[in-house]
Amino acid sequence: MCNDDREADLNRKAASSAVVVGAQWGDEGKGKIVDVLSERFAVVARYAGGHNAGHTVTLGGRKFILQLVPCGILRPGCRAVIGNGVVLDPFALLKEVNALRAAGVAVDGNLFISSRAQVILPYHRMIELAAENAPGRVKIGTTSRGIGPAYEDKMGRRGLRLADLLDLPLLHKHIENACREKNMIAHALFNSEPLDPAEMYSEYARAAKELAPFVCDTAALLNQAIARGEPVLFEGAQGTMLDIDHGTYPFVTSSSATSGGAVIGTGVPPTSIGTVIGVTKAYCTRVGEGPFPTEDKGEIGERLRAKGNEYGAVTGRPRRCGWVDLPLLRYSVMINGIAWLVVTKLDVLDELAEIPVCVAHKVNGKKTAEIPAQACGYQKIECIYRNMPGWRKSTQGTTVFDKLPGKARQYLAFMEKETGAKIGIVSTGPGREQTIVTHAFAAELETMRLKASPAHKG
Ligand code: GDP
Ligand code: IMO
Ligand code: MG
Repeated sequence: MCNDDREADLNRKAASSAVVVGAQWGDEGKGKIVDVLSERFAVVARYAGGHNAGHTVTLGGRKFILQLVPCGILRPGCRAVIGNGVVLDPFALLKEVNALRAAGVAVDGNLFISSRAQVILPYHRMIELAAENAPGRVKIGTTSRGIGPAYEDKMGRRGLRLADLLDLPLLHKHIENACREKNMIAHALFNSEPLDPAEMYSEYARAAKELAPFVCDTAALLNQAIARGEPVLFEGAQGTMLDIDHGTYPFVTSSSATSGGAVIGTGVPPTSIGTVIGVTKAYCTRVGEGPFPTEDKGEIGERLRAKGNEYGAVTGRPRRCGWVDLPLLRYSVMINGIAWLVVTKLDVLDELAEIPVCVAHKVNGKKTAEIPAQACGYQKIECIYRNMPGWRKSTQGTTVFDKLPGKARQYLAFMEKETGAKIGIVSTGPGREQTIVTHAFAAELETMRLKASPAHKG
């Protein structure tokens, strides 16, 4: 193959893969969007986080809340990959797999888990719970799933990976040593009760047996799929403002939730990512502690929570509600390279007479585009709002852009202009069919399909 041909081939393959990333603080509706898009993709791969995520898909009146298994599993013919960037609680995964099997979803043969993904162990949860409530510690308001301590062990090079879980003598030794150390630390720091390594080993050895058929080298699987020209969709978890590096640190999760995480968390090269799709609500929410400049703590914020059913899919905690923050969205577009914006939950705003949008931040009386590196920096932000006129008509279930009320289109056009990303999808309800795909994005998806090899489905 000559150089020109090789370049054309690489471009062709890259152009048929995409990342779906949360543009706010998570719960933007990524699950629904991945489900809608999965029709066009041969593989859907999760790359970060663990069962702190809750991705809701509503299909024909049935509701699935997926925590670890990529939403592509619900689409017949689509393979689902859990990448190396994920921290995996074997029992949470098995519970999810069994629930999917019981619902008639073909999991076996379609789900692949990276042998390099990290395992969450009971001491991770124990340490997190104790640390969150310890005096003098900053309370993050985590999901209490052991996510942070599992990533700490990964980076500390003392984690247990799926490949190690299946290696029973190694598993035994790892649990013995880790329990000795963790029990001492947890007792000394938090006066926690010790965990029993023998019981832990027998439970994890049993889980290992059940998980073994799913475990493989998923980096090889994904790279081979890409080499064949199969379109791959990377399913982000959490959101940009929860990213360990780029979010509102320390009020973040412990993984790379941004689009770059798709590369590290699955083992595909950056050159294989064709486009980035950022999901934002038509307003904004956040669960847990930490900065939220546009939060509305008043009656309208409560109305958003009630109408949008803003309660955590995993923990049931009420989500804090507020308005679109354009400076933060522009930051998110920059950090992720978002080309296409997906705006979800437009219908939740249907009844409002006016919709405030934060158009600029002021610090010490001066407008600034700089996003603070410190959590305390957010306290100095004064939000400058523009009140957009509401449309006061139902958009629920609308599937055609031109059928949206004029003021709703004006609202979306404003978001598009101000973020610099093109609107690709507008979501008008939780169901798969309650979706508008813009003409421009439909054309882009079609190009991706044509660029994929003829071997690919659909
Ligand atoms: P994710 O974590 O980003 O996948 O989002 P979650 O599933 O945690 O939260 C999004 C919630 O909004 C879920 O309950 C979805 O069913 C729901 N949802 C998604 N899109 C829409 C929409 O356009 N309108 C309405 N009313 N609900 C939506
Ligand atoms: P999805 O994928 C919303 C938040 C927690 C907490 C912080 C740290 O459904 O969008 P952790 O347990 O990760 O150490 O908690 O991150 N958080 C999420 N918020 N959606 C999520 O996932 C989240 N995953 C973690 O509430 O503030
Ligand atoms: Mg969620």
